Amino acid sequence: MAEIKDSLQRPLKDLRISLTDVCNFRCTYCMPPEYDYKFLNEKQRMSFEEIIRFVRIFKQLAVERVRLTGGEPLLRPDIEEIVAAIAEVDGLKDIALTTNGQLLAKHAARLKAAGLKRVTVSLDAVDPFAFKKMSGGRGSYRSVMEGIDEAIAQGLTPLKINSVIENNVNEEQVLPLVRLAKEKGATVRFIEFMDVGNKNNWHKEDVLSSKEILKLIETEFDVIPKDPAFYGEVASHYKFKDGEGGVGLISSVTQPFCSSCTRGRLSAQGHLYTCLFATEGTDLLTSMRNGASDDEMLELIQEIWYKRKDRYSEERFNQKQSRRGKVEMFHIGG
Ligand code: GTP
Ligand code: 5AD
Ligand code: SF4
Ligand code: SF4
Repeated sequence: MAEIKDSLQRPLKDLRISLTDVCNFRCTYCMPPEYDYKFLNEKQRMSFEEIIRFVRIFKQLAVERVRLTGGEPLLRPDIEEIVAAIAEVDGLKDIALTTNGQLLAKHAARLKAAGLKRVTVSLDAVDPFAFKKMSGGRGSYRSVMEGIDEAIAQGLTPLKINSVIENNVNEEQVLPLVRLAKEKGATVRFIEFMDVGNKNNWHKEDVLSSKEILKLIETEFDVIPKDPAFYGEVASHYKFKDGEGGVGLISSVTQPFCSSCTRGRLSAQGHLYTCLFATEGTDLLTSMRNGASDDEMLELIQEIWYKRKDRYSEERFNQKQSRRGKVEMFHIGG
């Protein structure tokens, strides 16, 4: 089936699937530890079979890349089976996974064997004390480092590290994170702190802009801009002049990239979101469970995508819309 375009002429190319809303971390910018969280029960979450059926359906709409997210996707007991079944779907260009890395060392070899191409590990600090603070007191820095090493050893590469930088919170971690990336031959991507969800108490003063981050990086490293790897790539990349790996900047706040946003997001509950900052999704899972055929599901998804006109980041500072209740990041995996 041919590619579909939304009302702003953006094709649907990437499917991001949250496998579970549960997380073993409490990152302050996503699930601040001072809140109590209610999670979905087993029945509410998409089953293995439902996930694979969704992938096949979306593939018919010319989706090229699948990314598995969470919460923390490695908490899903059937993670390797899910990866293996997606790897068997013909014609996908990429299957990747975003993880906090805590359980990665244990899973890396099996994920690789199942057909996973690469992983992205979230890590906001190299200093163990700062790391503990950013992960809400839950994570073990050593386990994440072991996870990164094992993923590289297993060839889950190019390995990317995602770091959220907040002004006056962890900006002193920028240079150590770049040193780490260089040492490992990995790419570290700095994500501007975003106003996702409703709990992280975001203020624009807390954002350290990509421009400032790059300036800081250039005080110690020689970096050269790199062309995007594919249309709609989120980060602008730079490589090290003298070494493997590099840095990336994800500037959702200061340089929004909505005009090339090709991503659909399926929550663990099987709701389709057409924007990271959406208020509501469309409950595709209930339609599937009520017996909709593949053709009916295709029609439903097409209809949603045709109507899509989201461009939240480009409109962020327009008061009216930034006040709406938004979906939480751990439901749709970023
Ligand atoms: P690559 O395929 O390696 O480029 O990965 P990716 O950037 O699609 O996936 P990843 O999960 O590593 O994304 C990094 C982070 O960038 C996300 O978790 C979000 O925080 C942010 N991001 C990704 N896509 C979007 C988007 O469409 N809008 C906004 N505002 N932020 C995004
Ligand atoms: N701002 C920027 N990035 C965020 N992430 C989660 N919450 C935020 C936020 N408020 C990132 C995580 C992870 C990815 C899935 O999204 O660090 O790398
Ligand atoms: Fe968990 Fe990722 Fe959210 Fe951190 S950012 S709390 S690791 S889902
Ligand atoms: Fe896409 Fe929404 Fe992010 Fe814009 S704000 S890039 S539309 S997910």
